[in-house]
Amino acid sequence: MYNLKLLSGEQIPLEMHKVRMVQKVNLLPVEERLEAMKEAGFNTFLLKNRDVFLDMLTDSGVNAMSENQYAAMMQADDSYAGSETFYRLEKVIQDIFGQIQFLPAHQGRACENIIAETLVKPGTTALMNYHFTTTLAHIKMRGGEIEEVISDEGYKIQSDALFKGDLDIDKLKSAIARLGRENVCFVRIEAGTNLVGGQPVSMKNMREVSKLCRAEGITLVYDASLLSDNLYFIKTREPEFANVDLKEITREIASLMDVCYFSARKLGAARGGGILVSDEKIFMKMRELVPLYEGFLTYGGMSVREMEALAVGLQETLDLDVISQTPIFVEAMCNELIERGVPVVTPPGGLGCHVDAKAFCAHIPQEKYPAGALASALFIASGVRGMERGTLSENRDKDGNDQLAVMELVRLAFPKRVFTLSHVKYTADRLEWLYKNREIIGGLTFVEEPSVLRFFFGRLAPLGDWPDKLAKAFRRDFGDSL
Ligand code: F0G
Repeated sequence: MYNLKLLSGEQIPLEMHKVRMVQKVNLLPVEERLEAMKEAGFNTFLLKNRDVFLDMLTDSGVNAMSENQYAAMMQADDSYAGSETFYRLEKVIQDIFGQIQFLPAHQGRACENIIAETLVKPGTTALMNYHFTTTLAHIKMRGGEIEEVISDEGYKIQSDALFKGDLDIDKLKSAIARLGRENVCFVRIEAGTNLVGGQPVSMKNMREVSKLCRAEGITLVYDASLLSDNLYFIKTREPEFANVDLKEITREIASLMDVCYFSARKLGAARGGGILVSDEKIFMKMRELVPLYEGFLTYGGMSVREMEALAVGLQETLDLDVISQTPIFVEAMCNELIERGVPVVTPPGGLGCHVDAKAFCAHIPQEKYPAGALASALFIASGVRGMERGTLSENRDKDGNDQLAVMELVRLAFPKRVFTLSHVKYTADRLEWLYKNREIIGGLTFVEEPSVLRFFFGRLAPLGDWPDKLAKAFRRDFGDSL
């Protein structure tokens, strides 16, 4: 289990499952990886999966599913309205989160669309620990603004703080006082704060934020997409909860919130999403939007088979053996990299291992997208596909200037129960080589730049011929190794 020790004292992440179905992956030679990266416009989102060895782009919709999830998919009730599948899922959700109303949606950002349309008025501000790309886009589209009130520790790449995703209560209070409570459309807590390195939020902090929001009459929204990692950290890092059941922890979190939503591509290891509402007025408004944007109220754009898988996946989220897997593999990867001198976000969080591209590529200015360059370089050196989470993932300001990200990260996501220890060791080895050869890596520039969420399908070009040089150096050092 997560606290297993070997005779030697070495700590390894032990898989609490066995492999019963596999997908073959290919490792192309470095020259072909270079070509694939060129074709993809130096954007890892545009790579073809057939060219990728280890897909660490994201955990979204690519988590391994259990045999019980697959079995459940067979009994889905395919009816447009009143599907038995919906009632089964609703019952599971109410069992886990408490007596709360459930609205289905096709994925997390669809929930954000409905939440923004319901709660955001032009000129209002959403206060939150940290934005997620799609959350920000939906709020901005409604004429709203966001302000981040994460703890100072959240901005530090290296820290000992166990809950770096916590909101700073003083910052929150002063933002409410400055803006006026009527101009705050909602406060949002993101579990397992994605863009600062999958960092958790403590129950202590959620209790404080909830108390404040209730006193001020401000709606509190919880993004539970990364709840499973966050539950693991509450259980293992917050002593009060060491012996508390995971369902009880989940229920307490839900009881503190007015609205919870999640991407079921992450939480529940299926594909879909959902909004959980305790406030009747908000529920009635949101309910009208579900058939408009998503589909009828008993499927909300999800396949009924995915809904069945989700119901089982959510129940499995209450099993520590299941939810510990991502955090222990992230920790193992971070430790391998730290040993090799590669800079990473600490303490290890959930979701993935986050490499600090600002330190890794200190010679590349942020305007030249060091994290994007590092993600491209890593693919060339290894066939591992990570995701840029830095300035490329931000928007330009009104004058067309890049807004420099606070952190320049390359995320190596650990989809639940997909990768093994040898994958960790291989990736760490190639990153170590890359780190020793980091001076070869150069910057990137846009050649095709979409105006919204540009990181998804923007195309870039290298500044100079550094990718060719990198591939040559790899061949020189590794001989005929792939
Ligand atoms: N909220 C958080 C915290 C997320 O991480 C995501 C998605 C969403 C909302 C949106 O959910 O993709 O189902 O529409 N994160 C993915 C990622 C895309 O790779 O981190 P979605």
